Amino acid sequence: MRPSTDDPVADPTADPTADPAAGTVSGLLRDISGVGTDARRGGYSRPVFSSAETELRCWFTEQARRRGLDVSTDANGIVWAWWDTDDGERRDAVVTGSHLDSVPGGGEFDGPLGVASALVAVDILRSRRFRPGRPLAIAVFPEEEGSRFGVACLGSRLLTGALDPDKARSLKDADGDTYADVAAANGQDPRRIGADPAALDQLGVFVELHVEQGRGLIDLDQPVAVGTSILGHGRWRLSVHGQGNHAGTTLMTDRRDPMVAAARMMVEIRNIALQYRDARATVGRLQPVPGGTNVIPSRVDLWIDARHPRDEVTASLVESIHSRARLIAAEEGCTVTLDAESLSPTVHFDPGLRDRLRTLLPVAPVLDTGAGHDAGVLAGRLPTAMLFVRNPSGISHSPEEWVEDADAEAGARALADVLQGLLEAAGTPASPLHAPMMAG
Ligand code: GLV
Ligand code: MN
Ligand code: MN
Repeated sequence: MRPSTDDPVADPTADPTADPAAGTVSGLLRDISGVGTDARRGGYSRPVFSSAETELRCWFTEQARRRGLDVSTDANGIVWAWWDTDDGERRDAVVTGSHLDSVPGGGEFDGPLGVASALVAVDILRSRRFRPGRPLAIAVFPEEEGSRFGVACLGSRLLTGALDPDKARSLKDADGDTYADVAAANGQDPRRIGADPAALDQLGVFVELHVEQGRGLIDLDQPVAVGTSILGHGRWRLSVHGQGNHAGTTLMTDRRDPMVAAARMMVEIRNIALQYRDARATVGRLQPVPGGTNVIPSRVDLWIDARHPRDEVTASLVESIHSRARLIAAEEGCTVTLDAESLSPTVHFDPGLRDRLRTLLPVAPVLDTGAGHDAGVLAGRLPTAMLFVRNPSGISHSPEEWVEDADAEAGARALADVLQGLLEAAGTPASPLHAPMMAG
């Protein structure tokens, strides 16, 4: 990471491209490529409030200040960097940004690509001598992945009031530490989290640039696409309760082993999902309690991520899984409990804004995505849109996620074109009904 300057509040007219690493997305990403590397899992582990994620937020703050932006962190831990207009009024802002936290062992681009591209888009607009007629802001949202406290897009859910602050405060990480305690230990007042209508009132439109997490742009042979929709998705914790016991003294026929039940359930989760067209169901996390090689667990927790374009189908899929899990548990002398942790309905981005992006980027194709994003949560409160940048591996949430330098720069140029087009418009080019259409 680049050493900080003595005076972090830069002259707004300073040329950010004077630094050879500034001004390119690849240069900015190289700056942070050593932060949060995970030697055990590979890739990056940057959970919210970890030293890596904190370092990245400081890096962003420094980079934004070098560009003369006014940076602050709000009560929900969202970092905002403002390029104000001459009158200093913050309303109808064009906002871009993404997140800096990662899944465990994640790739380099999921989140940081959107943040770095936002900074470079500011550089590009400056190099065009562009002066916004309405404010531009970059937002960095915390805990987008939900990899520490289990609820994805925690910051944007709190901002929009989609998550009850009491529920957020009591969320626990894998060590049993609550969000309230961890936030307080990191200098945030957990009593102040929650819906922030005054902050939302300042925003006109949000455009998030993100690495594509599938093969769409490879097949279309294009570097950048305009997003159309986000697949509905949710998370459930399935706990299988059995009898903890000794691995040596308990006969195989005497066991009530929740690990065996969980193993059977996981195969069934795959089989049930296969019966629903367009459904996805994943078990990516499994935790035996207490977790010893010579101990039959007393309980096994497993987390189900289920997704489908129609939310009622997701509900039916999860109910089928629950019924089957109850039967398997009974056969193994165990019981199950199922708890919903989060649910994000399918979101279709504002059609007026999407069409405006298509006009500004006439060559870019349109793509939907199976991945969740803060743009999906914010879509409940303001027009939102997304840009996707080609990922030649087609793989994400893995160290194999990739973006070529030329595509990263093409993405930043596309973002700059979009931001400029939106900033030049008198108001938000949204559909009359800018509330998103929710499926189901
Ligand atoms: C976030 O990347 C998700 O789709 O879970
Ligand atoms: Mn992401
Ligand atoms: Mn992700």
